[in-house]
Amino acid sequence: MIILAVESSCDETSVAVTESRRVLSNTVATQIAEHKLYGGVVPEIASRRHTEAITEVTRRAMSEAGVSYEDISAVAVTFAPGLIGALLVGVNFAKGLSASLDVPLVPVHHLRSHIAANYIDCDLKPPFLCLTVSGGNTIITEVNDYTSFNPLGGTVDDAAGECFDKVARALGLSYPGGVNLDKIAAAADEKLYPLPVPHTVGKYDFSFSGLKTAAVNLIHNCAQRGEEVNVPVLAGTLRHRVCKILTEKTIAAAKDMNYKTVALAGGVSANSELREMLGAACKENGIRLYMPQLRYCGDNAAMVGVQGYYEYLSGNVSSLDLNAAATMPINYR
Ligand code: KG4
Repeated sequence: MIILAVESSCDETSVAVTESRRVLSNTVATQIAEHKLYGGVVPEIASRRHTEAITEVTRRAMSEAGVSYEDISAVAVTFAPGLIGALLVGVNFAKGLSASLDVPLVPVHHLRSHIAANYIDCDLKPPFLCLTVSGGNTIITEVNDYTSFNPLGGTVDDAAGECFDKVARALGLSYPGGVNLDKIAAAADEKLYPLPVPHTVGKYDFSFSGLKTAAVNLIHNCAQRGEEVNVPVLAGTLRHRVCKILTEKTIAAAKDMNYKTVALAGGVSANSELREMLGAACKENGIRLYMPQLRYCGDNAAMVGVQGYYEYLSGNVSSLDLNAAATMPINYR
């Protein structure tokens, strides 16, 4: 079953052609250069650029996959959560394709597709526990089956990616902040930069807004006193603190729930220290850890096609009145 998949939830216009877990093509048109000018994603610009790019990105995906439109069995599309204007471009484009090719339209939840990035070229099968960390979300969820999820906890305020991005901006690093912060981070020094330890009521919940504000205030206070911030050390200290929180809560949940298989997903899964720290902690506890290949960590349509395959098999097919949604729980259905 060959699927044409479309992703436009944020600032990457991506179209892929997939066959079950296999990726035949995965094309991505990134808008980073333009959003960099503003220090973050400007939603209106994102929507316009998706509209301009999507036809050509689709043409390239089809040509690289070496398939024709008659070979396509279904169109999968990210419908939620994300930037509403950006999502609508992909959803409407996918509806047009589905109607003109007369094939089913498969709505795909963005976080489910990030989790599915772990299925590409590998043998991972539910049940397992997954930590999904991106710019807008941070959740620990039980993946009972390919389309059955039980969230155990999540952030009560900011996502870890948002914390990285905003502190990176205050440190003068360019967009996308999280990636650049990871690149320049040096060894942590918690004595030099004592950052607060967030507290949450829920054992598997997260809170990153206090940590973000504390780091930004520290940078501003240094500037007011005319002191220079050691950018790599502060970046490394924040990275270490965030990775430690993510790792400890994930391991605690895995132990409590008796999971011997854990997966990592979302844009922040590309973080070098998180991959290393969670890898070491899983090894220590006899847990098998799956992580997406680096090229499938960020937003891409290949993961949408793979999750779309399982959504289709479970009967999750939509009529042409499908709408996009800015927010949507992972266990919506
Ligand atoms: O999943 P994603 O591509 O988009 C969303 O759905 O949010 O995640 C983007 C987030 C951004 O906050 C970005 O800074 C962060 O992932 N990110 C990283 C790294 N690569 C991407 N954060 C830390 N270290 C990285 N290497």
